[in-house]
Amino acid sequence: MKKETRREFLVNLIMGGGILSAFVLFIFNIAKYIYPKLGAPTFRKVVIAKADEIELGQVKEVRFGDQILYLANINGKYKVFSSICTHLGCRVRWEENNQRFFCPCHHAVFDKDGKVLSGPPPRPLDEFKVDVEGRFVYMWVEEKKSWGII
Ligand code: FES
Repeated sequence: MKKETRREFLVNLIMGGGILSAFVLFIFNIAKYIYPKLGAPTFRKVVIAKADEIELGQVKEVRFGDQILYLANINGKYKVFSSICTHLGCRVRWEENNQRFFCPCHHAVFDKDGKVLSGPPPRPLDEFKVDVEGRFVYMWVEEKKSWGII
């Protein structure tokens, strides 16, 4: 039997380590694909506006990161709606004159409360949980959890 040289041993060790690493990464990525989120979602609240910034009955466009949202003061109760249409994801816009949200893609109409008045959307606009504390309006957003590495 031929004795393994030091060079052959090191080459085999490096190749074996590489193959093992590739296999572990492959399994890890499959697990990430199958279970993209870890555990129950967690939420944090963020300031979205000052309470006195929006008058009774008014709807105002606000930005949160790269999202455009609508903050509404309906009968003294604050609501935050997504601007993503629940039909196919176009951006709805607030029409002050008509007091409605309108989606230009398939002419959907939502009322001030985000409910569908006409058009193909299957459900109301997505709404964020809102709290008012002191002078500020807070919105609850889901924290993104991921596998952290790679
Ligand atoms: S995407 Fe808004 S109505 Fe179709």
